[in-house]
Amino acid sequence: MSTRARNGRDAPSARQQRGGRPGRAGGRRGDSGGGRERQPGQDLPDVPERDSLTDVPGGVRLQKVLAAAGVGSRRQCEELIAEGRVEVDGDIVRRYGARVDPEHQIIKVDGRRIPSRQDLVYLALNKPAGVLTTMSDDRGRPTISDLLPGRAERLFHVGRLDYDTEGLMLATNDGELAHRLAHPRYGVPKTYLAEVTGPLPRDLGRRLLTGIELEDGVASADKFRVVERAGSRALVEITLHEGRKHIVRRLLAAAGHPVSRLVRTHVGPVALGNLRPGATRALTTREIGDLYAAVGL
Ligand code: URA
Repeated sequence: MSTRARNGRDAPSARQQRGGRPGRAGGRRGDSGGGRERQPGQDLPDVPERDSLTDVPGGVRLQKVLAAAGVGSRRQCEELIAEGRVEVDGDIVRRYGARVDPEHQIIKVDGRRIPSRQDLVYLALNKPAGVLTTMSDDRGRPTISDLLPGRAERLFHVGRLDYDTEGLMLATNDGELAHRLAHPRYGVPKTYLAEVTGPLPRDLGRRLLTGIELEDGVASADKFRVVERAGSRALVEITLHEGRKHIVRRLLAAAGHPVSRLVRTHVGPVALGNLRPGATRALTTREIGDLYAAVGL
């Protein structure tokens, strides 16, 4: 599965895009997720301590970067720094006046990277059925760019959904993150709700988890459960970490249970939740940090 830009090109990596280090985040986001509570007794990340971070000339104060990334208020961010919960390029920094480079330094809170670049945007959208997963269509059909008015030009969609599939899509201008999320090497799991033909045999889950031969090789589910049985129809939840074309529909059809409706509910750590069909929302700071972690960034 590839990530394609507006003109159908594969999304370049952030290194290619910027000629620099892998993508950082930034821009306006939803809730903070950054006021994460450390549980009593929970260890701090195992990183060396260093209070003498060299100020980056012309850099931005650390607490300002944290606050701008949605971690919390400046005051809360100062507390996080003083508590030793903030890392810059792998070192804990307790001095909250430290000046850092949010464009190039990797900043983490409680071990989770924060989106520190202000020019990067991270969105979730609920693709309705009957919308193409492209940014433009020369035949004038509805595309996901219609769901991103004024923004589509700059964004990559992460992976694809079929024309008839609904649900969670991610869109971002963080090329490296988009590239990795869509790359099979990182095996990011995706979860779907599928309405299928029933009744379902008892061994269906075992067969799906074991693997079923398709025309282009074996496919298997990572997780499977029956959500609801209703006579000749059933609702199932299935998780896979691969992205071959029509993979869920083909897998369930090969198992004898063709799909009549398919909704993607999760991409890695991000859930569709109650986002309305056609609506978009900014990812939270926590979700972005979890996405980075899911692909080793
Ligand atoms: N699998 C499918 O069959 N269709 C999708 O849109 C996504 C996964």
